[in-house]
Amino acid sequence: MKRLPGMHLVLLALLFALSSIHYAASDAIYDKFVECLLCHSNTSDQISSIVFSPENPSYKSVLLNYIRNLRFTTAKTPKPAIIVTPTSEAHVQAAVICAKSNNLLMKVRSGGHDYEGISYISNGTFIILDMFNLRAIDINIADESAIVQAGATLGELYYSIWEKSKVHGFPAGVCPTVGVGGHISGGGYGNMLRKYGLTIDHVYDAKIVDVNGRILDRYAMGDLFWAIRGGGGASFGVILSYSLKLVQVPEIVTYFRVMKTLAQNATDVVYQWQYAMQKIDNDLFIRLLLQPVNSDTKGQKTLRVSFIGNFLGDADRLINVMSEGLPELGLKKEDCMEMSWIESMLVWANFDQGTPPSAFLNRTYDSNFLKRKSDYVNKPISKAGLDSIWKKMIALGKTGLVFNSYGGRMSEIPEDETPFPHRAGNLYKIQYSVNWEDGGIDAESKYLDQIRQLYSFMTPFVSNNPRESYLNYRDLDIGVTDNGRNGYNEALVYGRKYFKGNFDRLVAVKSAVDPDNFFRNEQSIPLQPSKGNNRK
Ligand SMILES: Cc1cc2nc3c(=O)[nH]c(=O)nc-3n(C[C@H](O)[C@H](O)[C@H](O)COP(=O)(O)OP(=O)(O)OC[C@H]3O[C@@H](n4cnc5c(N)ncnc54)[C@H](O)[C@@H]3O)c2cc1C
Ligand SMILES: *[C@@H]1O[C@H](CO)[C@@H](O)[C@H](O)[C@H]1NC(C)=O
Ligand SMILES: *[C@@H]1O[C@H](CO)[C@@H](O)[C@H](O)[C@H]1NC(C)=O
Ligand SMILES: *[C@@H]1O[C@H](CO)[C@@H](O)[C@H](O)[C@H]1NC(C)=O
Ligand SMILES: *[C@@H]1O[C@H](CO)[C@@H](O)[C@H](O)[C@H]1NC(C)=O
Repeated sequence: MKRLPGMHLVLLALLFALSSIHYAASDAIYDKFVECLLCHSNTSDQISSIVFSPENPSYKSVLLNYIRNLRFTTAKTPKPAIIVTPTSEAHVQAAVICAKSNNLLMKVRSGGHDYEGISYISNGTFIILDMFNLRAIDINIADESAIVQAGATLGELYYSIWEKSKVHGFPAGVCPTVGVGGHISGGGYGNMLRKYGLTIDHVYDAKIVDVNGRILDRYAMGDLFWAIRGGGGASFGVILSYSLKLVQVPEIVTYFRVMKTLAQNATDVVYQWQYAMQKIDNDLFIRLLLQPVNSDTKGQKTLRVSFIGNFLGDADRLINVMSEGLPELGLKKEDCMEMSWIESMLVWANFDQGTPPSAFLNRTYDSNFLKRKSDYVNKPISKAGLDSIWKKMIALGKTGLVFNSYGGRMSEIPEDETPFPHRAGNLYKIQYSVNWEDGGIDAESKYLDQIRQLYSFMTPFVSNNPRESYLNYRDLDIGVTDNGRNGYNEALVYGRKYFKGNFDRLVAVKSAVDPDNFFRNEQSIPLQPSKGNNRK
């Protein structure tokens, strides 16, 4: 997590000042919207403090607080006409009713970590419903469950569990500022993936505000409850909270991080890792970070692979598991760090060992300019293939890859159990990752071009027909819809990649619960074509 240079803040302030010119037209929208909210709310005293027009001195900071990608903080980034920050569920109901009656497109933001910013950006007039105030977490250790509001962060969830129990945890993502609302509705995985599957595999209830402003629970939702466990929330309604089943974790878990360069036979280990992780003990998860770096020889580049392990057990047992399952890595006792589960989550989040768990309550996030893409690998890549990928990465210079081992529990859950279809048959998931610090169009086009070149180069090595993608690694390159007449066919392109055969069921749910396509975005679930898609 890098520090944001002060220059950026000055620049941002300037860019916002320049763009304030567009705001005048939104006065009328604001007045009508607030009037409607007052009508539909019995807490009128609070309304003015939760609705922000661009003229409000706090508008800028409210907007920027949860923009976690500096690419979307420029003067050219479209800005909302209104930001609503509900402090009660009734506010959310009123906001949906009033956005709809005023014909305003509404984007819903929880943690704001969407890689393409679609929770707070849109072409055309729009408002943001920002959920950050709705962040209550209720942990019940007696029945090993938790109710978590959408605006809570994963770090807050982990902290709250730790306060109540040292032998419980929850299988979700490793970045503590990610929001529950986006993360869980899009699937969610972390370093207990092979043992416990995805986050959505541990959701037993939810509360959602539908397009009519009603609050529904699991039983009132019907098939909608299936859809919001991996199909994304934004196409269906506003998720208020998820009810989660906690999992048990041992008092001692083991973490390791071992690095190997090409000269240290990294390729052999990666090659074997592809096979090993299918059948190795489910208590073990290993993530690979692959990055082009300078080599020991001056002026030369190499590829460095970091093997980052999470083991739900002690170091002695881990050494046994590794010497049998992946001896090529040569893991030694000295490489292993035993710690509590919460400490391991802190270390995975890049905090130094010894950082107190309260660090998980810090919502400040040092943003970068960034782009991500994803792929799935279902047959091992040959050593020659791996070598060619390393060569390409070194030539491109900055784009890294992250391999996340699958197998274990992931192979046991049927593909249609939830909308997330990437289960059995996958060896690992790839995340493409490029971050940069310098703003401006030139840097952006250079790095976007670089990551797209690598994605294109990877075509023969990854899944095809469809080439699968992970919804939570939002990537508008794989297709967008303008929700116009051809909406269904546009959505089919990215929909098959994100959901495979589950796409049609999502379309059926969507058509039933939101027949006018009020909840729509650049990659939403479309209406059935017979319904005369969509808007516009
Ligand atoms: C640093 C970083 C690390 C990450 N690590 C992981 C990881 O380990 N594992 C993993 O699975 N993913 C990971 N992700 C991806 C992350 O899960 C997604 O970006 C997720 O969608 C973010 O959720 P959010 O609430 O923060 O995002 P937002 O930008 O607020 O929302 C994302 C999407 O969900 C919709 N949405 C948000 N809240 C609601 C709601 N209440 N109701 C309906 N729709 C809603 C938004 O409209 C948008 O379409 C990571 C992302 C980042 C930036
Ligand atoms: C109004 O407030 C009361 C008490 O605070 C609450 O019980 C009721 O549900 C609220 N009604 C609406 C429409 O929000
Ligand atoms: C790399 O592999 C070769 C051939 O198997 C072996 O001889 C060599 O010792 C290994 N190098 C390292 C650093 O492990
Ligand atoms: C919160 O995180 C930010 C960004 O990493 C850091 O600068 C700040 O010092 C942290 N605040 C506290 C109280 O730890
Ligand atoms: C939004 O507008 C930009 C700039 O005109 C365009 O490149 C992009 O494709 C548009 N997005 C959608 C989903 O229509």
